[in-house]
Amino acid sequence: MAMTRTVLVTGAASQLAQCLKLSGAPSGWRALYLSRGELDIADSARTKTALDAIAPDCIINTAAWTAVDRAESEPARARRSNTAGVANLARWCGGRKARLIHVSTDFVFDGKEARPYAPGDATAPLGEYGASKLAGEEEVAKLPPGQGVILRTSWLYSEFGRNFVKTMLGLLAERNEIAVVSDQIGCPTSAHSLAGLIWRMLPRQAGAGLYHWHDGGETSWFGFAREIRRQGLAAGLLQGEIPIRPLATADYPTAARRPAYSVMDRGLALGEFDMPEGDWRGELGRVIQAIAKQETAG
Ligand SMILES: NC(=O)c1ccc[n+]([C@@H]2O[C@H](COP(=O)([O-])OP(=O)(O)OC[C@H]3O[C@@H](n4cnc5c(N)ncnc54)[C@H](OP(=O)(O)O)[C@@H]3O)[C@@H](O)[C@H]2O)c1
Repeated sequence: MAMTRTVLVTGAASQLAQCLKLSGAPSGWRALYLSRGELDIADSARTKTALDAIAPDCIINTAAWTAVDRAESEPARARRSNTAGVANLARWCGGRKARLIHVSTDFVFDGKEARPYAPGDATAPLGEYGASKLAGEEEVAKLPPGQGVILRTSWLYSEFGRNFVKTMLGLLAERNEIAVVSDQIGCPTSAHSLAGLIWRMLPRQAGAGLYHWHDGGETSWFGFAREIRRQGLAAGLLQGEIPIRPLATADYPTAARRPAYSVMDRGLALGEFDMPEGDWRGELGRVIQAIAKQETAG
C-alpha cells in the first residue's frame, strides 16, 4: 500500500489556506491546517515542538503579516511573521529533509521596469512589508536545492477574508462614485488558481526553487475595479452602475509606497506545472460566482 504523506498548511485562516482546503490535497497526501492560534510560526520553541510532533513531509506557509501600510509603523510585527516565522519553518525543514513551499509577493520589486519581472530579476522592495517578505525568502533560499520553494504572487483575492474585490463590491454598493488608482499596473490572482498550482507542485520535484504566479494579463487597480463592477452587475451583486474615476498615486497618499509596475513573468510555473493559461478576467468570474452564491445562502 502506498504511504500517505503529511502536508502542514500554516495560517489556516488566510485566503489561500481556505482555498487550499476547499480544493483538497492530491491523493496520497493528508493535509493538516493550523491557524495562528494553533501554531504561531514566530514562536520558535512552540513551533519546533509542534513540528516535531506532526513531522510533516512538507509545509505550505501561507501565514503572513499582510497589512502593507501598517507594516510601515509596525515593522517589527511584519518581521516577526514574515521573516523570523519563516526562518523557524526553514530551520526545521532543513534539519528533517522536509520541503517548504513558501508564498511571497510582487512587492519585493520596486516597479521601475517596464516589462514583466522574471524570477531572477533584482529585488528592491519599496516598503517594510516587501522588505520583511524578501528577508523571509532569503531564509527559504538557505535550504538545499529541491527542499525550498518560493512562490511569488500578486494582488491576491477570493471570496474569503479581506481583499480588493470584496472591498470594491462593498464600496460600489454603498457610494455614489468611487476613485481608484490607475497608475499602478499589476496582475490579479485568484487564491484558487494559486492553490491549484501549489497542489500540482506538491507531489513533484520543483526544479527551480523560485516561481512567479498570477492569473495572466495585466491591468491597473482602476481597470480591475471596472471589471469587478461589470461582473458584479452581471451577477446581480450590484444594482446600479456608479461612476469609477481614475486616480493618480500622487493624489492617494498611503503609508507604504507601492511599485508602479509589478507584473511578473509566470512562464516558468506555467510550463513546469502544466497550468492552464487562462486570464485574470476569467478567474475573477469564478470568485464573483462564489460571492454571489454566499450572498444567496447567507
Ligand atoms: N493578499 C495579497 O494581495 C497578497 C499579494 C501577494 C502575496 N501575498 C502573500 O500570499 C500569502 C497568503 O496571503 P493571504 O492574502 O491569503 O493572507 P491573509 O488572508 O492576509 O491571511 C494571513 C494569515 O496569516 C496569519 N498569520 C500572521 N502571522 C502569523 C504567525 N506568526 N503565525 C501563524 N499565522 C500567522 C494571519 O492570522 P491573523 O489574522 O490572526 O493575524 C492570517 O490568518 C502571504 O504569504 C502573503 O504575503 C498576498
